[in-house]
Amino acid sequence: MAEFSQKQYMEDVAQIMAVRARGPQPMAFVHTYGCQQNVADGEKIKGQLEEMGFGFTDDVNEADFILFNTCAIREHAEDRVFGNVGALKNVKRRHPSVLIALCGCMMEQEHVAERIRKSFPYVNLVFGTHVIHKFPELMFRMLTDGRRVFERGDDSEDQQIVEGLPIHRDGNVRAWCTVMYGCDNFCSYCIVPYVRGRERSRSPQAILEEFTGLVQAGYKDITLLGQNVNSYGKHREEGVNFSALLRMLDEVEGDYRIRFMTSHPKDATHELIDTIAQGKHISHHLHLPFQSGNNRVLREMNRGYTREKYLDLIAYAKDKIPDLSLTSDIIVGFPGETYEEFLDTVDLIRRVEFTSLYTFIYSPRVGTRAAKMDDPIPAEEKTKWFQELCAVQEQIAARRCAAAVGTVQRVLVEEQNEKTGLLTGRTDGNVVVDFPGDASRIGTFADVRVIAARNWILRGELEEAND
Ligand code: SAH
Ligand code: SF4
Ligand code: F3S
Repeated sequence: MAEFSQKQYMEDVAQIMAVRARGPQPMAFVHTYGCQQNVADGEKIKGQLEEMGFGFTDDVNEADFILFNTCAIREHAEDRVFGNVGALKNVKRRHPSVLIALCGCMMEQEHVAERIRKSFPYVNLVFGTHVIHKFPELMFRMLTDGRRVFERGDDSEDQQIVEGLPIHRDGNVRAWCTVMYGCDNFCSYCIVPYVRGRERSRSPQAILEEFTGLVQAGYKDITLLGQNVNSYGKHREEGVNFSALLRMLDEVEGDYRIRFMTSHPKDATHELIDTIAQGKHISHHLHLPFQSGNNRVLREMNRGYTREKYLDLIAYAKDKIPDLSLTSDIIVGFPGETYEEFLDTVDLIRRVEFTSLYTFIYSPRVGTRAAKMDDPIPAEEKTKWFQELCAVQEQIAARRCAAAVGTVQRVLVEEQNEKTGLLTGRTDGNVVVDFPGDASRIGTFADVRVIAARNWILRGELEEAND
């Protein structure tokens, strides 16, 4: 573990930017794509920007510094980034002094960095996920070298965790707390192990400190993050596994909820389910991506479990936690998948009855094993399968929502909808509920009776109102 040590660079950048800024304060536009890990990284980058004197704007035309924190998970995600970076050319033309930076998972890929170097000459700074803790130094070099700066982590930096980075949190009800970085699983379709490096866990002590700070600051919904949280602690000496970590955090006094993502079925244990069942603050929601319901496809994906093992675990979980809300990720059209094999996935979702699903059509990623596999099914066919699966899940979700009508749910109120004026919050199972009420309830828990279900959003009324 290392400590964040960029103070001098932050001061130097603050001085330079104070002069460069078009307005009274240098302004940054920061946009994050991708998963919660990336959002959490974005908050660390914003924390550093804040300490370098920046304010934040949602208008690229007002910005002195524009940063895209990118995601490489599917081609579509990358295309959006390239499109949006292309559009910045006009912003640069209007405001030549604006500085443009790209970071995140895409930038850890050599071929992407190369494309930026060649095709987007107005991008000033490119850095990868492993060097976020060196961001002030990179800013300083960009401002003083007179050259474009490209930086990715080398192997030694790849393995370290740097504690103590400032964090600018975007919300004040929900917060993210990273427990581990990287991934060692190398699912054959996935780019994450290549762009996020090897698995490494933060110390239980560092996590407990951050977590306690969040509870004391009034955060009510805290999500523990990692690509595979169930392998938390594997390479550490303390002997604290993920279930033990959850139990430790659950002891922190206060009125809050703990969530976590993502769990991997190969490492999810009965101990984990028991821990959720017995927890005081642990939400009854489990996101457990199964990707495919067919054993041959699962093997080709290198997932390390079978359909039977997954279903057994789900059966155990439903038995121990009857009100458990289950969600999952699925890939449709993995190379070589047949329609019959795809139907095993449809069968699995019928059996489990998930609250909601994140379904993706397979997208080849440069450098992964699956990208070299034969992929004979045309895109139009995969789209049909995708739609077939979504239609089945829609029925399941509608049925589940309808079954919730009449129940009373503990809802964490997050915001007031600007259009409808209704308060919006989430149940313990992570389902959205709208209900009339006063904005003063934002950030508190409310008992809400569900009175109707429409489009997977529940409509409710405050239970006290009926007293
Ligand atoms: N670590 C998590 C998932 C991270 S990526 C896990 O193992 O569950 C989020 C989701 O994106 C994955 O669960 C998978 O469903 C999807 N995904 C990853 N790579 C993909 C690819 N190449 N094409 C399509 N979907 C992909
Ligand atoms: Fe990707 Fe698999 Fe790691 Fe998840 S567990 S990040 S899908 S390699
Ligand atoms: Fe995307 Fe990187 Fe997350 S590739 S899904 S932002 S870990």
